[in-house]
Order: sequence, then C-alpha cells, then structure tokens
Amino acid sequence: MAFVSELKRTHYCGQVSLEQRDQTVILMGWVNNRRDHGGLVFVDLRDREGVVQVVLDPGKEKTAVAKKLRNEFVIGIKGKVLARPDGMVNDKMKTGAIEIEVEECEILAEAETPPFVIGDPNVSEAVRLKYRYLSLRNPELQRCLKLRHEVTKVVRDALTDEGFWEVETPILYKSTPEGARDYLVPSRVNQGDFYALPQSPQTLKQLLMVGGIDRYFQIARCFRDEDLRADRQPEFSQIDLEMTFVDEDDIRTLNEKLLRTIWKQVKGVDIEQISTIDYNVAMAEYGSDKPDLRNPMKIVECTDLVEGCGFKVFDSTIANGGVVRALGLPVKETVSRSQIDKWMKVIKSDGAGGIVWIKKENGEYLSPVNKFLSQELLGSIYERVCPEGYGTVLMVSDTANIVSRSLGTLRGLLGQQFDLIDTSKDVFCWVVNFPLLDYDDKENRWVACHHPFTMPKEDHVEALKSGDASQLGKVQAKAYDLVCNGNELAGGSIRIHNQEIQSAMFKALGLTEEQAKQKFGYFVEALTYGTPPHGGIAWGLDRLVMILAGTDAIRDVIAYPKTAKAQCLMSESPSKVDPHQLLELGIKVLDKKNT
Ligand code: AMO
Repeated sequence: MAFVSELKRTHYCGQVSLEQRDQTVILMGWVNNRRDHGGLVFVDLRDREGVVQVVLDPGKEKTAVAKKLRNEFVIGIKGKVLARPDGMVNDKMKTGAIEIEVEECEILAEAETPPFVIGDPNVSEAVRLKYRYLSLRNPELQRCLKLRHEVTKVVRDALTDEGFWEVETPILYKSTPEGARDYLVPSRVNQGDFYALPQSPQTLKQLLMVGGIDRYFQIARCFRDEDLRADRQPEFSQIDLEMTFVDEDDIRTLNEKLLRTIWKQVKGVDIEQISTIDYNVAMAEYGSDKPDLRNPMKIVECTDLVEGCGFKVFDSTIANGGVVRALGLPVKETVSRSQIDKWMKVIKSDGAGGIVWIKKENGEYLSPVNKFLSQELLGSIYERVCPEGYGTVLMVSDTANIVSRSLGTLRGLLGQQFDLIDTSKDVFCWVVNFPLLDYDDKENRWVACHHPFTMPKEDHVEALKSGDASQLGKVQAKAYDLVCNGNELAGGSIRIHNQEIQSAMFKALGLTEEQAKQKFGYFVEALTYGTPPHGGIAWGLDRLVMILAGTDAIRDVIAYPKTAKAQCLMSESPSKVDPHQLLELGIKVLDKKNT
C-alpha cells in the first residue's frame, strides 16, 4: 500500500482550497458518490472535514481503479488542485471552487453496499443505532461530537484558570444516591458482594474536600438505572465540580462566568442577564422547576377572584385548601371545543379534573360555567388572565401541586403548538430556595429533593433536627439549579459538613442508624475529622452540548447512545453471559416467569 506507508496525507478533503492551486496534494477518504461522465469519473471524496471533487481518468494506468470505485470505498489519491472553470464553481460546497485532477489512485478498503444511505433522515432510529459506526460518518453527527470536544476543552481550560484540579474518581464503587436505581457489578473475589456504579461522584468529591483538594472538577461518567427520555441516558457525563469555603453566591457567580465563557467561545454569543427565580414562584407561575422562559405565557392566580362564586367544583376545591389558576392563550384565532377536549386529556394524565375556559366574542364572555359565574366575574378573570384583551382563558382547579403540574404541561404544549417560543435565543435562569425534602406518597416517606448531602438553610436546621413531620416539608435547601430553555442544565448545593445535621437528614429520610452506617458510615465518619464548609454543582454535559448543537435529544451528541430500553443495538448489550462466568461470580439467574 503505497498510500499510507509512503504517500502521506497532505490535507483533509474538506480543507483543500484555491490556496493550494496547481499544487499536488495527497488525500484519503471515503467515496461519497461516483459519477461517470464521458470517459471521466467524478468522485466526491469525503473525510471528517468535508467533501472535495476529484476527477479520474480510468483510461490511465495509475487511475484505472476508477472503474471499480463504489460508495463508501476508502481510497487514497494523489493529484493536482485545479481551479474549476467559471460556471462550474459550486457555491454550495466549501471546496466548490476547486477540483483535483487525479494522477494516482489506490483502493485502501472496499466496502459492501451500506444498509442505508448515510445521512438519510428517513432511516429508522433502530437501524441507525445498529450501524452507529456508519451513522457516525454523517457530517451532522460529526459536527456534534466536535462541538462536544470543543466544549470540554473550554471547560477544562476555564476551570484550570480558576484554580481547579481535574481528579478522577472510581467507577467501581458504592451506592451514591441521586434518586435512581443503581447499576450493580458483582465481585468475583468477594462472592455475593457488589459494587455500584456511581450515579454521580457526589460523596467522592465531598471527600476530596475533606482531603484538602480545595477545588476539584471532573468530566465524570454517571450511571443511573431510571426511565429514559430524550434528555436522559442510563450512562451520561457531568461536568462535576466542588469547592471549599464558599457559599451559594460564590458557586453561582463562578458558574455564571463559566456559562458565559462557554457561550462566547463556542457560539460567539454574549449571554444577557440571568434571572433568579424562587422555586415556589417557578412552580406557581410556570408550573415547573425548570421553566422555559422563552415561552411568554405565565400561570395566573384566580383563587381570590372565584372564591365563593357558587360553582361547586371551584368552591369545594378552595374549601379544601386547593387553588384555581389559569393560562391565557395569547392567540386571536378561536379555539374549538374539540381542541380544548384534546388538551383536557393531556392535563388529566397529570391528575387534573378538567379545564374551564372563557372566550370573549363580540364583547360577551362565553364559558361552560356562565350559569354560575356572572358576566362581570368572567370579565374580571378574563382581564387578569388575558390583559391584551384577546385570547382564551384556560382554568384548572385542584391542589396547588396538580394545578402546577397540569398547567405547566399545558403551557409547554401550547407554546409549541402555537409557535410562541422564540427559539432564536437561549434563555437562562437560576432556580433557588428549593425544599430540602419532598413527600413521596407512593413510598410513604420523605425523599431528598436534591440528594441527602444538601445543607438546609441556616434558619431551617432546627426544623430538620426536630424531625417534626409538619415542619419537614417547609425546610428549604441551600440548593440551586441552572436552567436553560426549559432544561435543567446543572444542579448543585452547599453540603452538610457537620455530622449532627447529616444524621438528622438520614433520620428524616427514614434511615435507621444501622442503615445509615451500613450505607454511608465511611462518609459520616469523615465528617468528624475536620470537614471544611463546601459546596458544588454538576452540569449535564450531554444536555449542554445538545442545547449548543441545537438538537433535541442527547443521543445526538453521544457517540454510542442507548435506546429507551437501555440497550446498545450495535453490540446487542446487555446480553447473556457464559454460565461459567456466572458460576465464578456465584450468581444464579432466576427464571423471569417464576419471580
Ligand atoms: P443531578 O442529579 O441534578 O445532581 O445531576 C446534575 C445534572 O446532570 C444531568 N443529568 C442527566 N443527564 C443525562 N441523563 C441523565 N440520566 C441525567 N441525570 C442527570 C442534568 C442535571 O442537572 N451530584 C449532584 C450534583 C451536585 O449536587 O453537585 C447531581 O448529580 O443536567
């Protein structure tokens, strides 16, 4: 093989330009397509930097292989860069001003006909994932991976400049709870024992602070066995960081700086002001703790207006401590009943009973409840919810939680359906003052809103220590989330650095002393040996790159993503293993039907 061993590549295909005019270049890449034109063969030669047109004469000895070339063959060519004649210039191609007159060509690898045309958007996701290595040849996927590389480089440089050290932490470890199930790894040498893959390096990074590392970061792999969605993979990466002697503001300031640096260096964009929203306000006004602020709609409080109105559903909800809130759909076109019925179905899956609407037509307010609510009252609601004087009021009454959840879902849906979201910009906010604990009705116990290592606000420490169930739900956390366009981009907190508070937290979560010791004994002990106040945050790297790349699924920015069933279709994993491997591990797989 003269090419590769003797003839070394001089340029990437996509980087040849008029600058190399009349020079000889050596290129290697894939045949993107091949066209026969009256004796000459035109090939678009492709590599990761782009495509260039090369012209071969199959009549000549050193380019005779042109006859054999097929799509996806890997070839090497040596040839002269020529300016294309006027009229033949292709403005749509980066290399469209030139072509290569090939003097020598060698086939480096032949290729079977690929199962799909690379880049064809009509190919099913399953096929594209099975042949991921072929999908990776798609320039769009390569753009995303390059962007990911650029982002991690910017992050590494920026954090290094801030005095952070990159430290790796183990993958074979013990449970690090972040609210998902663990992936377990059996131990051969300690039969019956298991490692857990880290859901995040949470305890490990805190122990680095105990160890005096002061400022740590890591591009960390995390593993969570949870239901998957477009923004969740079982295996994903975080930009994880931790700092000592800092408060909430210090961490937010540093991360805002990092955010601005990323957007500036990767996108060339200056980020405008980043707002800070209280968790309770986010839930009440946007129905979400990760509001998409590009959507102009806000949820409006109506409880005070309808109190005692005579409409039974509202009256009994309010009597039971519930609320009545509304969204104003700011579009002039009339919304049909069948349309509202469709939205009704959606919000019912969030637990809400239904939607009460109000429309304004020829100065009159129309509503299915106009028997109970006077024109005057309907008018007051309408003016508050649709202050522009047009649109449709959509009201929901229930507990504050259900109203938030359902109107939050509806807000997102309407924003998409009526094209209300300005996708030309990225809008960020911090959500702060989260509750420390959430009551899980299904499991009948308190769970940590972030994770069990989050510090309560100073004024709330006593309430946590008291363990009084009526107080636990009111305890606020020193936690913060960074939100972008409705995505939770990063989340973090100030940590508990005191054993007493940590034990109170475990107790509130329903762990006995014995269980806490078995799960986190090593960690709690560390807190007794001089633990500095500390805190940190972790960014979802995949989500960050997804937003920067302008795609809507994190699998687009991951080289080898898994399906919604957590499978790798390419390698067909997870898969059965040899019985002798199981024997060595002392594991017996139960028959699914009998378990
Ligand atoms: P948290 O669980 O909020 O916090 O995770 C931090 C960020 O990681 C991203 N993320 C995910 N990305 C892809 N797939 C998933 N399954 C997935 N789960 C989470 C999100 C999220 O904001 N140890 C704490 C951080 C800390 O307190 O410092 C933690 O892991 O973007």
